[in-house]
Amino acid sequence: MSNRTFTMIKPDAFSKGHSGAIIDMILKNGFRIVALKLTRLSKEKAGEFYAVHKERPFYGELVDFMSSGPIIAAILEKDNAVADFRKLIGATDPAKADAGTIRKLYAASVGENAVHGSDSDENAKIEGDFFFSSFERV
Ligand code: RTP
Ligand code: MG
Repeated sequence: MSNRTFTMIKPDAFSKGHSGAIIDMILKNGFRIVALKLTRLSKEKAGEFYAVHKERPFYGELVDFMSSGPIIAAILEKDNAVADFRKLIGATDPAKADAGTIRKLYAASVGENAVHGSDSDENAKIEGDFFFSSFERV
C-alpha cells in the first residue's frame, strides 16, 4: 500500500482565508508535506482533473467552481494516507461530515466543500503526477 495522498484546498476555502488553518490541521494530524503549490486551474485543466465525473449532472458546476479562483495543491505522506486523510476531511456533504473534520469546520455545501482528497492509492498517484514534476517533491 502506498503511503501518499493528494489534496487541494479548493477556491471557496482559499478565498475565505482558511488555508493556514487547514494546513495546520493536516500537519497536526501527522501528515508530512511532500509537495505544495499555489496555482489556479483553467476550465480545461479542472475538467481534465475531474473527468471521471463527466457524465454527472454536477460536472459543469464543479468545473466552473474549481476554476473560479486560486487553489493550493499538495502531496501528503503518512501511513495509511488515503484512508486517514478521507477521515480527516469528512463526508462530501459537510452536513453529513463528522464533528471536527475539515469539511464540517470549513465547507459550506456539497458543491463547495473546501478540500479534495484522493479516493484510492491509484488516483493519489495519478493526481499527484497531474500537478507535480519529480523535482517539485521532497
Ligand atoms: P473530492 O473528489 O473533491 O475529494 O470529493 P469526494 O471524493 O468527497 O466526492 P466526489 O463524489 O468525488 O465528487 C467530487 C466533487 O464534486 C462536487 N459534487 N457536487 N452538487 C452535487 O451534488 C455534487 N456532488 C459532488 C463536490 O465538490 C465533490 O467534492
Ligand atoms: Mg472524489
